[in-house]
Formats: sequence, structure tokens, C-alpha cells
Amino acid sequence: MKPKLVYLQPTPVRIWHWLNALGIVTLCISGAQIRFPEFITICGSYRSAILLHNTAGIVVALSFSIWFFYYKWVSGALTSLYVPKMNELSYPLLRQLLFYCYGYFKGASSPFHATPDSKFNPMQKSAYLAIMFVIVPFVSLSGIALLNIGPIRQILLMVGGLQILVIVHFLLACMLGAFLMTHVYLATLGSTPLAYFKPMWTGWEKVEHHDNTDEQPGLAE
Ligand code: HEM
Repeated sequence: MKPKLVYLQPTPVRIWHWLNALGIVTLCISGAQIRFPEFITICGSYRSAILLHNTAGIVVALSFSIWFFYYKWVSGALTSLYVPKMNELSYPLLRQLLFYCYGYFKGASSPFHATPDSKFNPMQKSAYLAIMFVIVPFVSLSGIALLNIGPIRQILLMVGGLQILVIVHFLLACMLGAFLMTHVYLATLGSTPLAYFKPMWTGWEKVEHHDNTDEQPGLAE
């Protein structure tokens, strides 16, 4: 089978992804220092950790807007790419899970083959849906609220005070950190450890010829 090149990651998606990755890694490190200043001093003083955290937060919020704007209004593929269909949540999801937990270690190739119109396997779809539609927006909103308590002071007092907001922000950030580690690990499970990283850098992915990719737009010999 002759491999084909598929244009999988358009430029705005790549710009968003790497800005977002840089921003979120910086947020995790500076946030850890703000939470545990007695153990972590990697960003210098406490004040510089806060400054870095706030700046990285703005970078993530801006890059999120690029992601949303591109998928919603330019490509129009936000829901078709990111929201799994009911029939993907049963056998295809289980098959992918089995591949990650067992098949991969036996040398099997992934049961899912990406095309520009269907880039994510059911596990990716579910995880990316939760991350991009719930965790990132809510961790950002709770962070913005912590920066500017004034308008929500009364609501906060009714639900238990500032401490509740701090805990919610911290727990959401922990979920994001857990996603990040799993995401980077799973991204190395391609045909070579860098096979999935290259398209996120160049836009193009080399795929074996499969019938379902035959007539897809964006394919090149
Ligand atoms: C050092 C950090 C990161 C690395 C090395 C990395 C790596 C990758 C790679 C290789 C891909 C393409 C393969 C795939 O779709 O799984 C990808 C896609 C993706 N990553 Fe990351 N990632 C990082 C951080 C993040 C973070 C922090 C988020 C979200 C908060 C994120 C969200 C996504 C999403 C949603 C996609 C699919 C994008 C699309 O095609 O629309 N990544 N990442």
C-alpha cells in the first residue's frame, strides 16, 4: 500500500495548539508555585510566578478564541469533529481503548484512520470534547473571576466564600494537568513516536491508503 499525504492540521489550528500548549504548561508550573510556594520556586519570586501565571492565562484565552473562531466560523466543523455520535460511544470506543491498552503492545496498528473530515478516534473525540468545551472554558472563567472578584462577591458569599472558587479553580487545573500527561503519552503511540507530532507541526500526515480516505478532500500523492 502506497502511503498518501493528508492535510490534517490547518495553520490556525497549529498556531492555536502550540500557543495553547506553551500557555498551559506555563500555567501548570507557575500555578504549582503559587499553590505550594514553600516547595516550588522555579519561576523566581512569588510575585513573578503570579505575573507569569496571569500572562499565560491571557495567552490561553486568546489562543482559545483562535480555535473557536476557526472551527466555528471558518471551517464550520466544530461539532462534526468534536462531538461524538452515539454509535461511536459503544464498540468503536471500546475497540480504541483495547488498542491503546493491549493491541499497541502486540504491534497492531490503530483501528482508526484519520481523514480531514474525521480526524479523531472516539476516545480522542470524547476527551477533546470535555477539555475544549468544559475544562478549559471553566478553568479560564474561574481564573478570570479570581483576578476580579468585585462583580461576583455577593454570589461567592452565598455559596461559601472565596475559598470555594479557589478550590474549583485548583481542581479543574488538576484535571487539565492529568489530561496533558495522558494526551502527550497517547500522542507518542503512532507508527513512530513522532508520527502524530509531525502533522501538528507541518500540517501533513502520512497515512496508508484506506478506502475511507480515497475520496477525501485534502489528499495528495
Ligand atoms: C506539551 C504539550 C502538548 C503536546 C506535546 C501535544 C501534542 C499533540 C499532538 C501530537 C496532537 C495531534 C495528535 C492528536 O490529535 O492527538 C495534538 C492534538 C490536540 N491537542 Fe495537544 N499537545 C499538548 C498540549 C495540549 C493541551 C494543553 C491541550 C488542551 C488544553 C491540547 C489539546 C489538543 C487538541 C484538542 C488536539 C486536537 C486538535 C485538532 O486537530 O483540532 N494539547 N496535541
